[in-house]
Amino acid sequence: MARVNRAEGAVALVTGANRGIGLGFVQELLARGAKKVYAGVRDPSTVADEFDGVAVEVIELDVTDLDSVQRASAQCSDVNLLVNNAGYFANRRLVLTDDPHAARQEMEVNYFGVLNMTRAFAATLGANGGGAILNVLSVAGAFAAPFMGGYSPSKSAALTLSTITRAELKGQGTDVVALIVGSVDTRMASHVEGRKESPIDIARASLDALNKGETVCDTDLMAVEARARYFRDPARFERQMAKTLDIDVQSTGR
Ligand SMILES: NC(=O)c1ccc[n+]([C@@H]2O[C@H](COP(=O)([O-])OP(=O)(O)OC[C@H]3O[C@@H](n4cnc5c(N)ncnc54)[C@H](OP(=O)(O)O)[C@@H]3O)[C@@H](O)[C@H]2O)c1
Repeated sequence: MARVNRAEGAVALVTGANRGIGLGFVQELLARGAKKVYAGVRDPSTVADEFDGVAVEVIELDVTDLDSVQRASAQCSDVNLLVNNAGYFANRRLVLTDDPHAARQEMEVNYFGVLNMTRAFAATLGANGGGAILNVLSVAGAFAAPFMGGYSPSKSAALTLSTITRAELKGQGTDVVALIVGSVDTRMASHVEGRKESPIDIARASLDALNKGETVCDTDLMAVEARARYFRDPARFERQMAKTLDIDVQSTGR
């Protein structure tokens, strides 16, 4: 059977493409033969020479700013693969917090940002043959992670959004893949100890999932194991997750 490579010849847009997993996506899309990749970045000055000489066009894009999103959609009318990767982790408590705005900002980026981009590019994807949307989510969205205060609910909302998007855009042939990501070696997880995956491996697993027609994909071993533990005994898992708050307070003093 012929191997499918949905990246080959694709015109992709990756949000949060200047570093971390977003940069990994740009590199892997190019390696798999993408025709062009739009690298969505909040501040183009954060891009040095990493995209020199390759089929990448840097566009200024803040996913929480509707004008910015609309400009990107007008500028990138040939897109057939949208990677909603941009994300924000405030590392704050949800209830017992000294920063009540953090959870709203996490929701703005991680949920409304994905919704803004999906709405703005739905017609473009339809006009370009259906294409696909990859939403970079988290194990913290697959179950409640108390040590990830407002981040966990925002990723959970984005997981539900992914399912609804898949249903709404089925008629125009747009595939939607929800990516359940574990722990990755990026700035967002710089405070995390233990095993961390490389950004490029997350991009590879995600694009493989798209090729296989998967709708929800655990991108790495930590995601697989965490979700398996959760489904085996949700009540026990919840008790264990609650205990991580005590460990966190002891180690960080927060
Ligand atoms: N690292 C992990 O362990 C891990 C685990 C699970 C899921 N994830 C998810 O993976 C995705 C990528 O995160 P990462 O680990 O690569 O973290 P990262 O290195 O902190 O990168 C986050 C990216 O998102 C961009 N961004 C933030 N707010 C934005 C906005 N309003 N508009 C546009 N771009 C914005 C950042 O741009 P600036 O450079 O301008 O700030 C940066 O490019 C996120 O959705 C994250 O939630 C990460």
